Amino acid sequence: MAKKLFIRTYGCQMNVYDSARMADVLAPLGYGPTDRVDDADMVILNTCHIREHAEDKVFSELGRLRLLKQERAAGGAGLVLAVAGCVAQAEGEEILARAPYVDIVLGPQTYHRLPEMVARASRAGQRVLDTDFPVEPKFDHLPGPSATGPAAFLSVQEGCDKFCTYCVVPYTRGAEYSRPVAPVIDEARRLAAQGVREITLLGQNVNGYHGEAPDGAGWGLGRLIRALADVDGLERIRYTTSHPRDMADDLVDAHRDVPQLMPFLHLPVQSGSDRILDQMNRQHTADDYRRLVDRLRRARPDLALSSDFIVGFPGETEAEFAETLRLIDDVGFAQAYSFKYSPRPGTPAAQMPNQLSEEIKEDRLARVQDRIGRQAEAFNRGCVGRRFDVLLDRPGRHPGQLIGRSPYMQSVFVTAPESMLNTVQCLEVVDAHPNSLAANLLSERACA
Ligand code: 5AD
Ligand code: SF4
Repeated sequence: MAKKLFIRTYGCQMNVYDSARMADVLAPLGYGPTDRVDDADMVILNTCHIREHAEDKVFSELGRLRLLKQERAAGGAGLVLAVAGCVAQAEGEEILARAPYVDIVLGPQTYHRLPEMVARASRAGQRVLDTDFPVEPKFDHLPGPSATGPAAFLSVQEGCDKFCTYCVVPYTRGAEYSRPVAPVIDEARRLAAQGVREITLLGQNVNGYHGEAPDGAGWGLGRLIRALADVDGLERIRYTTSHPRDMADDLVDAHRDVPQLMPFLHLPVQSGSDRILDQMNRQHTADDYRRLVDRLRRARPDLALSSDFIVGFPGETEAEFAETLRLIDDVGFAQAYSFKYSPRPGTPAAQMPNQLSEEIKEDRLARVQDRIGRQAEAFNRGCVGRRFDVLLDRPGRHPGQLIGRSPYMQSVFVTAPESMLNTVQCLEVVDAHPNSLAANLLSERACA
């Protein structure tokens, strides 16, 4: 009988991609996906270490799984329990010690070895810890991807050498690595052949991409995007997450030249204060960011931006926080994520003096979120009356309704025949809600 695999994914899109690839790796062992944890023969928690909150969730979920495993054992059946991702990488030993019922702990760089680990855990009853940073990149050992819808992620770069002082990523994901051009294009072709229309290129520092082309030349992300635009069937391209320092001219120009490149960019800035940016080791000023946004908007006037903000970084004064609000006002974001600074073990900022109180962080978070929320609402309202190409990627709640994603990643509701599912259609936006748009079909397929 086929075995069932349940994967719970925490954190960023890189983890979403990794979870899909872990499912691909385990398929030849007879594991098929289930979305019911109670039915699973194997459970993987793909964890996130970026903020304290994300990590706490993992340990409480493990508590629940322990009970499930006990029930199974009482019935004479087994449950293979694996913890993957960045908490596993950072705290593998501790997980094994604290949670003796966990069978496998594996880091983000070793999941191509999962079949071996599962065999050791289930046949030999051993516990497995594999948090190496192998010399051989895992990408060389992964099977071809299997698409699950018309939009897919494609990992092109991983790891980070920037060492922002608050961030665990350089420690959990390791040094920067760019996949060579040929396998990336091959993966994109395979996805497109399976019906994928939109691809999001992933990397912790994706715009720092520098992959080797077949002729030995080094390609930046702009060049890669131009090549991917030629892949048959791929209609839309996105990339995330970018660092302001790595926005090369060629990439900015790609926003002007490549129509498939969507006019929406996630470009984290974290703070509007130069002193805090310096303390964060971001290696740019607030005005550098403003100038970069101007360059991007000159290249692509309809570009909309999203960002990440950290409030309450150690020593952040009220005046410095006000600089962040000013930057938000100056730039104007279509959406943004904001977080209270969370001290992470082993990072320099966790050792800095003047850690701020929870009250101050809460207060600043509420103020940033209010400002961003109002901008997002205004952005959505500004979409009413505009025409967008929308990728209709899922059925709506009501019969006859489909939901899609706009160029700006908004959810768009439309009455449309089911035959349009998984296609791009030109829609006219007729109404805006805080988190979605309503639209009507137009007779043309594409708006342009
Ligand atoms: N505390 C709060 N937010 C953080 N981020 C990264 N590390 C921390 C931390 N220690 C945020 C940053 C980053 C996003 C993915 O998570 O804003 O861009
Ligand atoms: Fe973390 Fe900074 Fe690297 Fe982003 S650029 S992953 S915030 S260290």
